[in-house]
Amino acid sequence: MPKQHDANSQLKISNLRLIAEECLKINSPLQKTKLKNLKSRHQLEVHQIELEMQNEEILRLCALEKEAFERYTDAKFAALGEMAEGIAHEINNPLEAVTNLLYLINEEKDLPEQARSFTHLAQQELARVSQIATQTLRFYRQPTARTAVRVSEQLDSVLKLYQGRLASAGVEIVRDYRVSAPLLAFEGELRQVFTNLVGNALDASRNGGKMTLRTREATDWRTGRKGIRITVADRGHGMSKETLRRIFEPFFSTKGITGTGLGLWVTLGIIQKHDGRVKVRSSESAEHHGTVFSLFIPHREKD
Ligand SMILES: Nc1ncnc2c1ncn2[C@@H]1O[C@H](COP(=O)(O)OP(=O)(O)OP(=O)(O)O)[C@@H](O)[C@H]1O
Ligand SMILES: [Mg+2]
Repeated sequence: MPKQHDANSQLKISNLRLIAEECLKINSPLQKTKLKNLKSRHQLEVHQIELEMQNEEILRLCALEKEAFERYTDAKFAALGEMAEGIAHEINNPLEAVTNLLYLINEEKDLPEQARSFTHLAQQELARVSQIATQTLRFYRQPTARTAVRVSEQLDSVLKLYQGRLASAGVEIVRDYRVSAPLLAFEGELRQVFTNLVGNALDASRNGGKMTLRTREATDWRTGRKGIRITVADRGHGMSKETLRRIFEPFFSTKGITGTGLGLWVTLGIIQKHDGRVKVRSSESAEHHGTVFSLFIPHREKD
């Protein structure tokens, strides 16, 4: 507690004692009332000082708690990162060996047809394990540092990646970018987020339709923080309420063998790591079917 406050309160309290003693000496009713008022005023002041001291203490404890939480989160990610590196190493070596062995088996000329089709299936399943391992582990691996990322450039490069598939599905792309300032972020992770959102929108737009990518400067009304809002909207088949409720669960997918169900789970983790938020709206109605994912990522001071 601040020393100055302690000294102030001691002074007030000794003043009060003096006043009380004066009260005992003086008999006039007017004097008595005046002294009584004075006494109440001093009591109020002492009370106010005590409240101020308590407020300062509360603020100090809040700051300490926030600092401890941030340290804990950093330490948690660092530990998970180390573990991820270890697991990635341990998993990748045997995976590579089995992949090579399957390849060699498949090269055998006298392989019976059924054995060849089993080998093919085993290769597919193995590729899936490998994809799950990299998706999950990449997320936890310690990224180098935040860099200045131009969100619209990243979105464009993701669109380029899907160029062929978008064209063959007949999806019309609308690019509506109004942000020029860069965002301090983990570049690789943001790219992973956009790749998944655009990929999902494309998967839902098998019969063509419009896909809109939008960026805007925005403010989080809850915290007052300024940042960037990124929207990926499609006019695909949309989602049922049941699906919508589960999309952020790990391994939840409606795509069978072609989806691992990790995309949105990883997406949410990455956005939360950037102190951001994800909102989603979706409709399956005949006239207004489609889905809108909206991300808010706040700006931040350089680390
Ligand atoms: N734009 C969208 N339109 C319709 N459904 C969607 C959309 N985005 C996500 N979904 C639903 O959410 C589910 C989970 O998505 P998520 O990206 O996590 O996994 P996935 O795409 O199935 O697999 P992957 O791990 O390969 O990304 C999807 O299977 C799909 O049912
Ligand atoms: Mg996905």
